[in-house]
Amino acid sequence: MILVTGGCGYIGSHTVVELLSAGNEVLVLDNLSNSKVSVIDRVARIAGRAPRFVKADILDRKALDEVFKAHRIEAVIHFAGLKAVGESVAQPQRYYENNVAGTLVLLDAMAAAGVKQIVFSSSATVYGDPEVVPVSEAAPYRPASPYGRSKRMVEELLFDLYAADPEWRIAVLRYFNPVGAHPSAFIGEDPNGVPNNLMPYVTQVAIGQRPELSIFGDDYPTPDGTGIRDYIHVVDLALGHLAALTALSDAPTCLVANLGTGQGYSVKQVVDAFEKASGQRIPVKITGRRAGDVPCYFADPSYARTRLGWTAQRGLDDICRDAWRWQSWAAAHPEEL
Ligand code: NAD
Ligand code: UD1
Repeated sequence: MILVTGGCGYIGSHTVVELLSAGNEVLVLDNLSNSKVSVIDRVARIAGRAPRFVKADILDRKALDEVFKAHRIEAVIHFAGLKAVGESVAQPQRYYENNVAGTLVLLDAMAAAGVKQIVFSSSATVYGDPEVVPVSEAAPYRPASPYGRSKRMVEELLFDLYAADPEWRIAVLRYFNPVGAHPSAFIGEDPNGVPNNLMPYVTQVAIGQRPELSIFGDDYPTPDGTGIRDYIHVVDLALGHLAALTALSDAPTCLVANLGTGQGYSVKQVVDAFEKASGQRIPVKITGRRAGDVPCYFADPSYARTRLGWTAQRGLDDICRDAWRWQSWAAAHPEEL
């Protein structure tokens, strides 16, 4: 059985669907601080069977011990954590407690139960503003926020753990910009309040929840002046976790891989692609740059290709089509969320 912490969240729920579809038994552990339990029913609707679910916090050692005692867990995919960059600047202790201390508690409980296989959700944010694009795993680390530093700290913790006990099987996956939704439209990103990120903001403008998109700067040194990112379809990202588990099943190791497409798109290109995929017009206004934004980054995904046998298969049109399907379904079925 695979334990998925944070499995009710955006990336976790898509990964649980793929794990179930590939025949795995799955136990989701989530404290529901940024998700709703109804997602379990929608995951089951897609996969044809439900994962098990435990409402618990990764900081609760007793609850974790009970989970490891009651189930034969082979591996953990660890998504649980807080992820809002701005919030992490305002409330750094909460971020270090949840993301770093929470992971320490989880790793301790795993070691006590003899479970030494983990896939960890890291982020391209550990690279900060990269000197060279595409960004390879060898790029220097310059996380620019408490959130980014919490991810880097957990990475270091995992590297030290492997150095101390090479029986561990560890995959650190650095996500670029996860976007899109499951093509069934039953699960997707459902942020609380005003979205911080581009794609959910665009879909909320398209559905009429917000009047227009602010484009944060069109004077960057990029072809159309707007910021460039590597947008990866969340289903491709989910499949990257299955590929990582397969790689870990071969032999003990500690690997670090970028999960991105290798292709960058500008904000304007995303808006154009979304208008085409949805048939909706997205009114935009150009505002000033957002503090902390970098002009351009996208992944060098070649290590994931050679080491994990994984490449992203879905492009920007698929991303926009699926994000729009999800937003339309969610707006029409609020009682199911
Ligand atoms: P999400 O907020 O949708 O999912 C995280 C889940 O973890 C939520 O269901 C939340 O309720 C749960 N959770 C949080 N703290 C917990 C705790 N202490 N105990 C138990 N459950 C807890 O976020 P997501 O977008 O699915 O991200 C998943 C992981 O991937 C996070 O670790 C995030 O930092 C990382 N990541 C996300 C992105 C992104 O853009 N979405 C990019 C890079 C990395
Ligand atoms: C943000 C986080 C990063 C995280 C990533 C996950 C910051 C500084 N960085 O990255 O840590 O890993 O999300 O997806 O928050 N944009 C607009 N208008 C909007 C929203 C965004 O023009 O309303 C632009 C941004 O300036 C940027 C691009 O769209 O050029 C993408 O922004 P966003 O989706 O927030 O992702 P990142 O900033 O790359």
